[in-house]
Amino acid sequence: MKNVSWPERTSRTDPFHDEPPARSGFEDYQRRGGTATEEQYERLANELVAALSSGGRPESIQQQARALLVWGPARPDRRTELPPAPYIPKVDDVARIAADFCPIAATEAADRILGPLALALDPAIPEHRTTQLAALAHHVFMLPDGSGRKVGRSFDPGKSSFEQWLRRKPRPSAAERGALRAVYRAPYSAWILHRQVGDEWILEDLVGLTPPSVPTEPVQIGPIGCPIREARPGDTLLARVVRGPDGWRAFAPIAIPGGPPRHKIQTWVHTELIRGRLTQRSLTVERLLRRRGHVLARRICEWAWIAGDDDPYGLGPLYDLEYVNHTEDLRHYTDLAIESDGPVLELGCGTGRLLLSIAAMGFAVHGVDRSATMLAQLDEKLARQGAGIRSRVTFGRGDFQTWTPNRQYPLVLLPFNAIHHCRHRDEMVAMLGVVRRALAPGGIFALDCYLPDLELYDRDPDQRFEERIFEDPRTGARLRSWEQGWWDTKTQIHHVVYVYCHEDGREERAHLQFSMYELDELRATFTEAGFEIVNEASDFSGGALLADSLKWVGVLR
Ligand SMILES: C[S@@+](CC[C@H](N)C(=O)[O-])C[C@H]1O[C@@H](n2cnc3c(N)ncnc32)[C@H](O)[C@@H]1O
Repeated sequence: MKNVSWPERTSRTDPFHDEPPARSGFEDYQRRGGTATEEQYERLANELVAALSSGGRPESIQQQARALLVWGPARPDRRTELPPAPYIPKVDDVARIAADFCPIAATEAADRILGPLALALDPAIPEHRTTQLAALAHHVFMLPDGSGRKVGRSFDPGKSSFEQWLRRKPRPSAAERGALRAVYRAPYSAWILHRQVGDEWILEDLVGLTPPSVPTEPVQIGPIGCPIREARPGDTLLARVVRGPDGWRAFAPIAIPGGPPRHKIQTWVHTELIRGRLTQRSLTVERLLRRRGHVLARRICEWAWIAGDDDPYGLGPLYDLEYVNHTEDLRHYTDLAIESDGPVLELGCGTGRLLLSIAAMGFAVHGVDRSATMLAQLDEKLARQGAGIRSRVTFGRGDFQTWTPNRQYPLVLLPFNAIHHCRHRDEMVAMLGVVRRALAPGGIFALDCYLPDLELYDRDPDQRFEERIFEDPRTGARLRSWEQGWWDTKTQIHHVVYVYCHEDGREERAHLQFSMYELDELRATFTEAGFEIVNEASDFSGGALLADSLKWVGVLR
């Protein structure tokens, strides 16, 4: 899939454009009392844009934005205080045209072409996956590309009905045109489908819109785009939400499962807001999303697509319960962080068990993980940390076999057996390529993993092991847990199923698959990929590696 960055330039113009053109950044800066020369201003502005693009540290971005007088809370958007347009006449007509007219909203295309196509191709594809595919494909194919050309035009059902509609005889009435304008003026934004009330939904705003844009009552949504799978509470809804005389309505909606955590979306929007304010001080979140909402939507779809929810780590809070006492590796990895002096990259960072300890020691650390659930749990834990730790941690969703680093690190970690998620040698080689690109010259790559344990694999697959009683962190109720496992000789995969049994007998399961590698195979793969083994041991205290060692702890360069 094409990697899209937020923001993305498009040539799309607002046909109802009634805003003054963006002022030159420097004039705007002077009007606000800035005293730097134009040359100094340009330099600072370029530095800020570079820091925003490379995911610079939040506190230095804040400092730079303050110096340029573009820092501050988002102001309310006065335009949305306009009285609602009288769109009673032909609501459905307007909805259809809005969906057709805005490429972001052409959900019909996604429904008609991509949904059935994906289903026809493979009925075994889980429905949530097809929905994500349709939403992503829609946002990739239906948009103008950077040059202003519309990519994948052939996917478009074809009728530029807005223009046809405008030329229609008799001409659309002022009320009808006003209706479309009201839809168009609503920011294309991201919401959580919170709860269904009859045929309507309670929506939660995800981006920090100001009151007039936020529905105060349940919203009529429909038809929902990509309706391959029914919309469910917790889905991320992408839509323009408008209040009219017959209540609140969401136009051009797409509901996708597995969107990014709220904090992540807000960071994207806030970063873009600062960038936009370099040329337009009065930029509001609403105005930003009117212009660029489709790019945010695309980013959200990509996030959802990367992992789907066939996620073996889909029980994030329970993972923490299981591993809260797993601290034996902390010292080893934090010592390496001290030696490297940071910043640190952790691949497969999960819920931040290690990442947060590294940040607590004063190092900037970036985490990458494929699991939305694990990252959502990290996000929650991060919100409970002090400002210092929060400012040092950044994270993103990505696959460590394909992820593209946008800077280099003196220390890259792949801790706590994450390498077993490379299913075969080729995947390991791909991961090592990512590590090489992320490592600064002379940098260190540290990881640990299991070595094959034939005794463990001999266990009866039907028998329960490690039975424990927990308190479910989500409900406070009693939870019984155990693990079962089996060994697949052909694929060399050790399957481990964690079973969590609730008091009412309901069960949740996490099925992890660990691809096992012999020590010689590991060493050979590292060497062939151009890494030198600087240090290796059988545990985190530096124990010697013996023929029957079950653990490998390595430091590579
Ligand atoms: C055993 S957990 C380790 C989590 C964390 N590093 C810790 O020490 O607690 C392995 C993590 O790797 C992640 N993971 C597995 N395959 C991945 C991939 N291809 N790309 C990114 N993350 C992946 C999983 O989602 C999971 O969070």
